[in-house]
Amino acid sequence: MRILGIETSCDETSAAVVEDGVRVLSNVIFSQVPLHQKTGGVVPEVAAREHVVKIIPVIEEAMEKAGVGPKDIDVVAVTQGPGLLSSLVIGTTAASTLAAVWGKPLVGMNHIAGHIYANWLQRKADHVEFPCVVLTASGGHNELVFMKGHDNFELIGETLDDAAGEAFDKVARLLGMGYPGGPAIARAAHAGNKLRYAFPKAYMGDENFDFSFSGLKTAMLNFIRAEHSENGELSEEFVADCAASFQEAVCGVLSDKLLSAAQKFHAKTVIISGGVSANLRLRSMIIEKLKADYFFDHKARKVALEVKPKFDSPADISFCTDNAAMIAGAAFFHIQRVGLKKVAVKNVLGDPNLRLY
Ligand code: KG4
Ligand code: ZN
Repeated sequence: MRILGIETSCDETSAAVVEDGVRVLSNVIFSQVPLHQKTGGVVPEVAAREHVVKIIPVIEEAMEKAGVGPKDIDVVAVTQGPGLLSSLVIGTTAASTLAAVWGKPLVGMNHIAGHIYANWLQRKADHVEFPCVVLTASGGHNELVFMKGHDNFELIGETLDDAAGEAFDKVARLLGMGYPGGPAIARAAHAGNKLRYAFPKAYMGDENFDFSFSGLKTAMLNFIRAEHSENGELSEEFVADCAASFQEAVCGVLSDKLLSAAQKFHAKTVIISGGVSANLRLRSMIIEKLKADYFFDHKARKVALEVKPKFDSPADISFCTDNAAMIAGAAFFHIQRVGLKKVAVKNVLGDPNLRLY
């Protein structure tokens, strides 16, 4: 089954053609990052206008790169939410129009389900062994999801305030770095001493799978302000050490909670998804802990990991951040479970069934 996927939930205009949920024939991503760098973040009106300009060329390029025409497409899938409404409306309008004109079924997909299914792209459909625990961490979302099987999602924890990606973006701004903050912090952290500062990590008790980053964000704000008033300009060394220590705090909590959930739910696999899953320190930390069979609990005690899940992450870094291939992939597995007749809709934005869990 060949699916044309369309994604415009935030600041990436993307279209992709994916075969059977895993084979990526094309994945065209137009990033608006340079546009939003001027304002240090996404201004919804600006993002929506850019989607209007790019959506048709991006879809045309995706079809051309995949070497397919309308008759080769079986289904049109589009992100219906969550996201910025003014951005979503561009993708859903384009998808609805194409589906109507081409006479193809239209499927609305949840953006987070898309991020999760980025893990299957360019891999075998059965490469993830269930049950599986997924960490999703992006600019807008931060969750732990338990999957018993394909397209079967149970929310086991979520952020009580900010998402990890948002914390990366805010702290990067405090340190005088550009947007998006995640890659900028990761780059600066390379040269930094990750053990220099012990920033707060919110665990909120054992077997608590919720997240909270607002305390860390405030601590960073106060710490960086104090440095400013003591020493004026931030030194390169301070910025690097701060970035490395902050990254260590965020990745520490993310990896500990993922592994603690894996233990509790007897997961055979753990996977990561969303923009923050592009972070190499997060990946290396999970691998280190799995190798040594431990994670830390809320009192910073080492806990032996009794179950030893396999760790997987998206095959390509470009699958971690927003892209349309992940939407087409998720749509395939959703259709497999529910049946095309049941999931095809006429009005994706007006669909009251916008739920993942
Ligand atoms: O999934 P995504 O593209 O968009 C949302 O759905 O939000 O995620 C974007 C987020 C941004 O907050 C960005 O700073 C973060 O992912 N991010 C990273 C890295 N690359 C992107 N965070 C940490 N390390 C990275 N390498
Ligand atoms: Zn996203």
